[in-house]
Amino acid sequence: MPFIPKFSKLTPTEKLKIVASYLKVPEDFIQACQSFLHTDAQQQKIFETFSENTLTNFLLPYGVAPNFLIDGKYYVVPMVTEESAVVAAAANAAKFWAQRGGFQTKVIATTKIGHVHFIWHGEYSHLYAALPALKKYILAHTASLTTHMQQRGGGIKEIDLINSQAIAQDYYQLKVQFETCDAMGANFINACLEEIAHALKIFVAAHSGMQDMPVDIVMSILSNYTPHCIVKSTVACEVAQLGPMHGMRPEAFVKKFSLAVKIAQNDVYRAVTHNKGIFNGITAVTMATGNDFRAIEANGHAYAAHSGAYRSLTTLHLADNIFKYELTLPLALGVVGGLTQLHLLVKWSLKLLKNPNAATLMKIAVSVGLASNFSAVQSLITTGIQQGHMKMHLANILHHLKASDAQKQKALCYFDNQPISFAAVRAFINTVKP
Ligand code: MEV
Repeated sequence: MPFIPKFSKLTPTEKLKIVASYLKVPEDFIQACQSFLHTDAQQQKIFETFSENTLTNFLLPYGVAPNFLIDGKYYVVPMVTEESAVVAAAANAAKFWAQRGGFQTKVIATTKIGHVHFIWHGEYSHLYAALPALKKYILAHTASLTTHMQQRGGGIKEIDLINSQAIAQDYYQLKVQFETCDAMGANFINACLEEIAHALKIFVAAHSGMQDMPVDIVMSILSNYTPHCIVKSTVACEVAQLGPMHGMRPEAFVKKFSLAVKIAQNDVYRAVTHNKGIFNGITAVTMATGNDFRAIEANGHAYAAHSGAYRSLTTLHLADNIFKYELTLPLALGVVGGLTQLHLLVKWSLKLLKNPNAATLMKIAVSVGLASNFSAVQSLITTGIQQGHMKMHLANILHHLKASDAQKQKALCYFDNQPISFAAVRAFINTVKP
């Protein structure tokens, strides 16, 4: 494949043709790409503006998990995921906990943070002494950006000077705390930070005793780590109310569940998988609501290590015969801005959730994360996950093998009590007339 000059300047059709020309069957690729274009040209245009060098759209299933009882209200939660059993797991746990009081949630804090990273060769004490004046100057300088957010109760909440010379000589940070209300706020925060960097340079250049030591800005960027934008979801019931779990008595189930959580609290190999199961649910809601799932996952995994070791994000409390299971994590979600105004299905997702504000969306997403994890651990310590997983996977294998309806029917019966693997399904299909 040669270097392609000025690729971004080509029209979408030219791009598609060029890329296709590197394949053995260019026409098939072009046809496949075209078959995934939106039938409504207007909608297609909107999709193409989300990203660059767009050739076509990439579909993923959009499903729902009904019966989520969260703080006394029922929700049908939209979920976008490519993984089989994720929606079913969330829906099963939602139904289970709806019969036991549902999910109780609390938004603990909603502050987000960004930094201006800079080099300054002067004395820290000089800069520190000038901080009150610098803050005033910054707030005035950024007023045109923050007025609208302030009217909604947000804006810049605090500015601190951090001496970071332990990392590099003469390296400092302005650490800025923001409240972004119903927006995830990345654009707002980054725009403010770039303006703050500009203000810092002007302030230092004009401040007596500092003029000959200019500020060198390294970068100005929000942090996707938001340990002060935190939400918690809890499920609880009497141990006996859990009922028999796949033939296991509730007391025995709780004992094993407790050990499973303890392992995830203490063993990083298990903790990562345990937490990945939480994000099976959270990421699916994040995607369906047009939020940035990379930011959400990076944030959650960093928070899982906030004690100094990477641990389970869930905790189990057992006292007075009560099983109380909790998930606390940072979730910087938004319901305005970004894709929320552009992507038709994102708009519908928010309508399905009764147009929540950002705090309510945080509460919904954390509850779906807790549900996903509860289902996963429940399966792991009883039947194992492969049984449920492979049943869902069977449908995918049959589809992949282009099985006829008759073959599918027979395969579903046969594999009801047989181990499922790609090879086994293919071998079985070959024995059944289409
Ligand atoms: C699979 O996507 C997720 C699980 O591995 C999570 C877990 O092990 O807790 C089942």
